[in-house]
Amino acid sequence: MTAATIREYHLLRRPVGLPTAADFTVATRSLPEPAQGEVRVRNQFLSVDPYMRGRMIEAKSYVPPFALNAPLDGGAVGRVEVSNHPDFSVGDTVLSMMGWREGFVSDGKGLIRIDPTLAPPQAYLGTLGMPGLTAYAGLFVIGGLGEAETVLVSGAAGAVGMVVCQIAKARNCRVIAVVGSDEKARWLEREAGVDVTINYRTEPNLRKAIAAAAPDGIDLTFENVGGEHLEAAIACSKTFGRVVICGLISQYNATEAPAGIRNVRDILTRRLTVRGFIVSDHGDRRADFLRDMAGWIKAGRMKWTETIVDGFDRMPEAFLGLFSGANLGKMVVRIG
Ligand SMILES: NC(=O)c1ccc[n+]([C@@H]2O[C@H](COP(=O)([O-])OP(=O)(O)OC[C@H]3O[C@@H](n4cnc5c(N)ncnc54)[C@H](OP(=O)(O)O)[C@@H]3O)[C@@H](O)[C@H]2O)c1
Repeated sequence: MTAATIREYHLLRRPVGLPTAADFTVATRSLPEPAQGEVRVRNQFLSVDPYMRGRMIEAKSYVPPFALNAPLDGGAVGRVEVSNHPDFSVGDTVLSMMGWREGFVSDGKGLIRIDPTLAPPQAYLGTLGMPGLTAYAGLFVIGGLGEAETVLVSGAAGAVGMVVCQIAKARNCRVIAVVGSDEKARWLEREAGVDVTINYRTEPNLRKAIAAAAPDGIDLTFENVGGEHLEAAIACSKTFGRVVICGLISQYNATEAPAGIRNVRDILTRRLTVRGFIVSDHGDRRADFLRDMAGWIKAGRMKWTETIVDGFDRMPEAFLGLFSGANLGKMVVRIG
């Protein structure tokens, strides 16, 4: 990024199935000089998140679809380069939704100043950011997490899952983590202290493996994947168990309506509570979340790692990597 010229990603067409790099294009834009009350920010870390796939299709949802041939947006952390705004100084690190671009001019609305001495800036896109709050709200507000329960987590080594596992451990739960590689399993055992890991790619029968890990059944499932994972979780739930539907990543690139949950009968006979949620409804929990996270981090109970992809040009590659399991922890792109 030179003084005021930036590159930004546009969505060229609506992907069908797994997106490809050809669905995106890079445009160059000149930024205006920041006026009085404005700042210019140079982004350092850009977030790629599974929910962005949902915004690439033309469908009514909880957020509007991305427009074609217009800048994409998403989480970003950057540094204030020029400030004519009373609340921001040059050098401040700020969190914004102005991602998929190298920089931007803003009137300050939606910019959050973060403290990069507390944690590395990219942590505010992951463990200390939206994915971390998702784990927190999903477990406590939606799932009613109690002490010493048996908790099943799918997608357990990702940005959200990794935090879910550790909050549950901090509540003395028995945590069963389902992941897509042995490396991910080892990280969760070593760093997050989970009790059992299951690699769904090498495990021939997911349901049996979960049942063996939880002979008395699962109290609370935190579902990130859907499909076979969700069916197995339902099948292994205790009577009056709870299933929190956070995400269904296995279905985000489906070209046909995915098969339904075949064992709905288990929901009935076991009197399960199955409830979905969206993190943006739970912004009121942010202060509690940050307070509790600070405590867990200080106590050595909350660890994280990231997968950092270097280079603005690699943004589509990083995004697509979410669907092949290329990330351990939060996937971010470093551009500054
Ligand atoms: N409800 C909300 O408000 C909210 C907010 C944030 C995120 N979410 C959801 O939470 C889930 C996790 O998000 P995240 O940001 O933490 O992503 P993430 O887990 O960091 O990255 C995605 C991971 O999903 C797994 N995956 C991808 N395709 C899969 C498939 N077909 N079958 C099984 N696993 C698959 C891969 O791990 P493996 O190697 O283990 O397969 C991949 O690394 C997503 O479903 C997302 O949409 C929901």
